[in-house]
Amino acid sequence: MKVLVTGGAGYIGSHAVVVLLEAGHQVVVLDNLANGSAEAVARAAELGGGAVPLIEGDIRDRPLLDRVFSEHTCDAVMHFAGLKAVGESVEQPLRYFENNVAGTLTLCQAMAQTGVTRLVFSSSATVYGDEHPLPWHEGLPTGTPSNPYGRSKLMVEQVLADLAAADERWQIGILRYFNPVGAHESGRLGESPRGIPNNLVPYIAQVATGRRESLAVYGNDYPTPDGTGVRDYLHVMDLVEGHLAALQALGRRQGVNVWNLGTGRGYSVLEMVRAFEQACGSKVAYHFAPRREGDVASCWADPSKAREELGWQTRRHLAAMMADTWRWQQANPEGYT
Ligand code: NAD
Ligand code: UFG
Repeated sequence: MKVLVTGGAGYIGSHAVVVLLEAGHQVVVLDNLANGSAEAVARAAELGGGAVPLIEGDIRDRPLLDRVFSEHTCDAVMHFAGLKAVGESVEQPLRYFENNVAGTLTLCQAMAQTGVTRLVFSSSATVYGDEHPLPWHEGLPTGTPSNPYGRSKLMVEQVLADLAAADERWQIGILRYFNPVGAHESGRLGESPRGIPNNLVPYIAQVATGRRESLAVYGNDYPTPDGTGVRDYLHVMDLVEGHLAALQALGRRQGVNVWNLGTGRGYSVLEMVRAFEQACGSKVAYHFAPRREGDVASCWADPSKAREELGWQTRRHLAAMMADTWRWQQANPEGYT
């Protein structure tokens, strides 16, 4: 297959490029480099052993999309392009809805026009809201995400469901990620946050290298075993293998299919700190701070639907997530820059 990967210069998209190439697919990347890097695409191409054209452009640019689809006969799209900083989305909601929702509409319009109707979309566990008992499974109704970023994911899910209901050509996989972490085993690809990291593992990694002083642990009074927040962390390589499985399964499926991608078990912030210390061989300084607004106490997936329908499950454990993050961080202390 030839696959257009939007957002392929970013963290998850670049890892997806590797597994797509390794599986024998051809790949074209479209990315506006708002938060991605051409170097990530070059390294992914090298690791995957293939040539990957990088089209520097925006998913909101319809004439560009039409040109891309006419120049490249694509069979499917993996759609990672989007803005993802929760706090920023609260300050700049219009930018987030424009980019994530309007951008996806434009992409789908261009796809419909050219008859490319197989789509794998990056959604988030945040669409469940926090009203449901754990673990979260796909049969639950979606809830109320606590911020514009989360609502942009929910809106896109609704648009895709309506689209597939109206036009039976569509084969859509909505993948609800839990917490992707880690890096490619080579240490050549990883997460390269700009500025101060928002997410736990990149922050811990920067404390370990001495770039940041101490991790603020947001809340130690949650109803969890050690009082700190619990999440379902999965290795980014497992995550992108889930995309590959979804891409293949969609060939046998019509309409919209929703799959959780998670491990099914949660770790607390303090367990994550300890696991990282094991990987890097030194202490990670931390201090307790107030809860972060919008955070839930705990969240983990019921991953059984993906296991049964995609034959996919996570294979890499916490120690590998941390060891791979550490390898990447040491080799690339400033990310790709
Ligand atoms: P990322 O920021 O590293 O990658 C996103 C890429 O999309 C970047 O390279 C950016 O330059 C590009 N991009 C953004 N807007 C674009 C536009 N309008 N046109 C073209 N390119 C554009 O983020 P990531 O962590 O790799 O996330 C990929 C996707 O997965 C996102 O949609 C994100 O919302 C979703 N997701 C991520 C997580 C996570 O924890 N990382 C969790 C759930 C869902
Ligand atoms: N945390 C800290 N200190 C930090 C960063 C995080 O203690 O500096 C804690 C959080 O409070 C939480 C856990 O570490 O308990 C994980 O936080 P992350 O920011 O790494 O991940 P989240 O679960 O908050 O965020 C993820 C995705 C978002 C998504 C959100 C809601 O990154 O895209 O889930 O489901 F919107």
